[in-house]
Amino acid sequence: MRILALDQGTTSTRGLVADDSGAVEIVHSVRHAQHFPAADRVEHDPMELLANLRAVIAAAGRVDAIALSNQGESCLAWDAVTGAPLSPVIVWQDRRTEARLAGMAGAAPTVRAWAGLPLDPYFSASKLAWLGDNERRVQEAHRAGRLRLGTTDAFFLQHLTGRALTDVTTASRTSLMSLETGDWDPELCRLFGVPLDCLPEIRPTVSDFGEIDGVPVTAAVVDQQAALYGHGCRAPGDAKITFGTGAFALAVTGPERPAEDDSGLLPTVAWCIGDETTYAVDGGVHAAGAAVEWAQRIGLLDGPAALAGFEAAPAIDRGLAFVPALSGLAAPHWDGSAAGLFIGMTGATTREDMAQALIEGIALRAAEVIARMGQGGPVARISMDGGLARAPYLCQFLADVTGAEIVLPATEELTGVGAAQLAALGLGATLPAPPLRATVKPRPCDREGRMARFAGAVDRARGWRD
Ligand code: G3P
Repeated sequence: MRILALDQGTTSTRGLVADDSGAVEIVHSVRHAQHFPAADRVEHDPMELLANLRAVIAAAGRVDAIALSNQGESCLAWDAVTGAPLSPVIVWQDRRTEARLAGMAGAAPTVRAWAGLPLDPYFSASKLAWLGDNERRVQEAHRAGRLRLGTTDAFFLQHLTGRALTDVTTASRTSLMSLETGDWDPELCRLFGVPLDCLPEIRPTVSDFGEIDGVPVTAAVVDQQAALYGHGCRAPGDAKITFGTGAFALAVTGPERPAEDDSGLLPTVAWCIGDETTYAVDGGVHAAGAAVEWAQRIGLLDGPAALAGFEAAPAIDRGLAFVPALSGLAAPHWDGSAAGLFIGMTGATTREDMAQALIEGIALRAAEVIARMGQGGPVARISMDGGLARAPYLCQFLADVTGAEIVLPATEELTGVGAAQLAALGLGATLPAPPLRATVKPRPCDREGRMARFAGAVDRARGWRD
């Protein structure tokens, strides 16, 4: 049995084929253009992403089922009849709706109560409303009764299978779905100004999503939730962190919707299999790999070798800190006005010191999130994947500042693995779990001192753009 996972992510589209022997193979991987039409905007070309998915499908050869994983909250408008895009993809990082949401502050308690989410441009709802208000073609299509609004999964599925469908994990990231019912909520749609009848049907994660060239699509899921499943997290408290463009930590909470609290973490749907929904809490750091790429672009980091380690004592212990708030601060702060910050330089500070502080800053932001995830005690173990799982300094530093053992699976492609595992369930089969590569044990350090110093830097980064 061969399962193809289509992993349509923020920076690339990848195809992973997993088989029942446990083998996994990347069959194709292609990057796409990032468009930054203004300082607060990030867009993708929907037809470029679709072409990349088609190239992945062609490269995979014969498979028995297909899974689609998507980049969460990114969304667009398209013609329900022809499928033609009526807008670019507005990417989850895009902050253009900041002012609009500031004017909706009165709706925050309702959105929090029903969708479980804070009012933040990250989620799809305000982006979809923005399209309706600002794109003439969207308004015309709406008047003509042929407007479709949704996340990228539904757009891809309309083109690849002929049916615009989404799944409950992706829908839970829009702010338009009730976490209670797993369906679009009319009141939330009204508050944001998104016409409910233009949204795609919501299906369970493992479900019939149609066929691509005769092969059934049996799972569709947000990439972060796919990775959670791929890490083998099933029981309450099981946690993972994926270092991609951002760093996203998720911990399974169980079959009940997580109670509202002030942790700053987001209650979300982990997956829905059959009629059983599993929930999770999610904490995102929006600039992780993005901060590394930025540092490479400006010549602060030389390349992958620079991530291996540093000779000097930790920069944070020497009073040098970096806050990677390149697009504001997400969990647990939710402060879009925060800005990236280096602090603590002296005349003796070197480029190497700044590079070290940068890597530590990414880990310290992740540690802030992980510190809030423990259920009845600190997180003792967290499974890690993504490009930065190959950066030994970051892994050890993260273990040290969280006090948690870091588990490193043998593959970094846990999104593809998890999506393929979910699709296999749709065929009534299970795929083996990937083997482990290493575990990183925490070493004693002044954890509280480091976290307190970093918290001071975060305080200074906040409110900068107000
Ligand atoms: O919430 C955004 C997240 O799902 C994107 O993940 O891996 O595409 O950066 P990634």
